[in-house]
Amino acid sequence: MMNNPPLHVDVITIFPAYFEPLQLSLIGKALDKSLVTIDIHDLRDQATGVHKSVDDTPYGGGAGMVMSAVPWGAAIDQVIDAHPGVVHDLIVLTPAGEKLTQAKAHEFSTLSHLIFACGRYEGIDHRVTEFYQSQPQVRVHELSIGDYVLNGGEVATLVTLEALIRLIPGVLGNPESLVEESHSIAASDEGAPDLLEYPNYTKPPEWRGLAVPEVLLSGNHAVIKGWRSQAALTRSKKIAGQTGE
Ligand code: ADE
Repeated sequence: MMNNPPLHVDVITIFPAYFEPLQLSLIGKALDKSLVTIDIHDLRDQATGVHKSVDDTPYGGGAGMVMSAVPWGAAIDQVIDAHPGVVHDLIVLTPAGEKLTQAKAHEFSTLSHLIFACGRYEGIDHRVTEFYQSQPQVRVHELSIGDYVLNGGEVATLVTLEALIRLIPGVLGNPESLVEESHSIAASDEGAPDLLEYPNYTKPPEWRGLAVPEVLLSGNHAVIKGWRSQAALTRSKKIAGQTGE
């Protein structure tokens, strides 16, 4: 099944150079094959003052600077207007957002138009989120990639893009790789626990005194399948114990 038309992504940032690595590896190939299209926009192009400033001091006082709604509104309107007739999913990266999961990455990979808003400093004036939440053709997602604070949304956008683009049909050489990997949607049943992948081994059969588990050399696929299920369960329980989940 192909995405039809392919997903279009707009990224709005004050640091376009962060996104140069998207030309590399599997995502670069996906772009070459037009399985996804990505445009990077410099927020500063929308700044009007002599200093091209995009931030200001926070109302109510406090440390740091807040990004102004004015250039953000202009930049987002521009990318929305360039893609008429589709629903626009505006993803605002913030440590205060909903956590990125494999299920979310999957959902994003099936959409038509994603707009990533990369905030810096103390974030973007909250009225930007509020305004676009009120627009009928826009869905707003405040998204966090984890419980830690980055300097801005650029790296979080790269992480989210890699997680979702690899799920677009045709991006991975072997789509079977998606089936058994950690957090796989395909492998888990409805309501089943989120299993991590079993450990993998390749040649040589012995390395620094460590042998590959005998069962994996047996050629008995049923036994191997059973061993892998058990190893996945053991690994998942161990990690869940460490993270308290
Ligand atoms: N911006 C700063 N920290 C972030 C995080 N953890 N996730 C998403 N965006 C962020």
